[in-house]
Amino acid sequence: MSIVYLNGDFLPIEDACVSVTDRGFLFGDGVYEVIPAYGGRLFRLPHHLQRLQDSLDGIRLDNPLDTAGWTVLLETLLERNRDRAGDNNDQSLYLQVTRGTARRRDHAFPAEVRHTVYACANPIPAPDPALERDGVAAITLDDIRWAWCNIKAITLLPNVLLRQQAGERGAAEAILIRDGKAIEASSSNIFIVEQGVIVTPPKSPVMLPGITRDLVLELAAQHGLASREEDIGEQRLHAADEVWITSSTREIVPVTRLDNRPVGDGRPGPVWRAMLGHYRAYKAAVRRGDAD
Ligand code: PDD
Repeated sequence: MSIVYLNGDFLPIEDACVSVTDRGFLFGDGVYEVIPAYGGRLFRLPHHLQRLQDSLDGIRLDNPLDTAGWTVLLETLLERNRDRAGDNNDQSLYLQVTRGTARRRDHAFPAEVRHTVYACANPIPAPDPALERDGVAAITLDDIRWAWCNIKAITLLPNVLLRQQAGERGAAEAILIRDGKAIEASSSNIFIVEQGVIVTPPKSPVMLPGITRDLVLELAAQHGLASREEDIGEQRLHAADEVWITSSTREIVPVTRLDNRPVGDGRPGPVWRAMLGHYRAYKAAVRRGDAD
């Protein structure tokens, strides 16, 4: 049975209830994180906690816990859900912090905030071999989101609608175009490869600074693969030899069809394959406790 954390308690998911006056429910007034754990070890925890702090600062909400508090909470959750994870004990943690409940619905912040803190764990399924063999399809769509996409806000309606549209057109992701440039996808960051060089858009307020994205750039530097952070215009995206999407849950996935046309030769590319090897080696080091 799934054990979740809610406001200080660990309890079965069926017993976890949040008030209908919660500002997360009424306004989407909150932020979240998704943190993988491999072999029971939290992946890039300091990076995720720093981004959580940045998101909380972005919506002017105090952090309800310090680093030690979050670490104990997340490690306890992993332990309490160990029996649901497979032999490899890979789990994905979700946490969310909202501005809590208020006596009446009012857009303005309540005078006194009592956060709602929720967290849960889910087993990470084994990678799908078809993804590695064939890659996935993606489509481009106009970025209809707000101007502060660097905040990992729970208010995800545009992302939900964009992702749904992609699914209905047989694609795994929607790559979002703003002012003629590819920014990221509905729930992942994007990379392209041009003549062996890895390119990803620079960080900006209209993009979520992905933890996986940063690690991919770190691994490229470490292993001597050329990489650049540059704007990617729509035409440049369509002419790329390789396109990848990255996130904590998807890791690094090759896009082999974009807007119904093959990317490169239509098969996962050699630079992606090299990066996947480096990423897997990094995960193995995390499992051994030799990397975070
Ligand atoms: N999404 N961009 C967006 C809009 C995202 O929602 C995500 C992650 C990313 C990738 O970030 P990271 O590498 O830190 O996971 C980029 C998570 C997984 C989600 O919403 O479930």
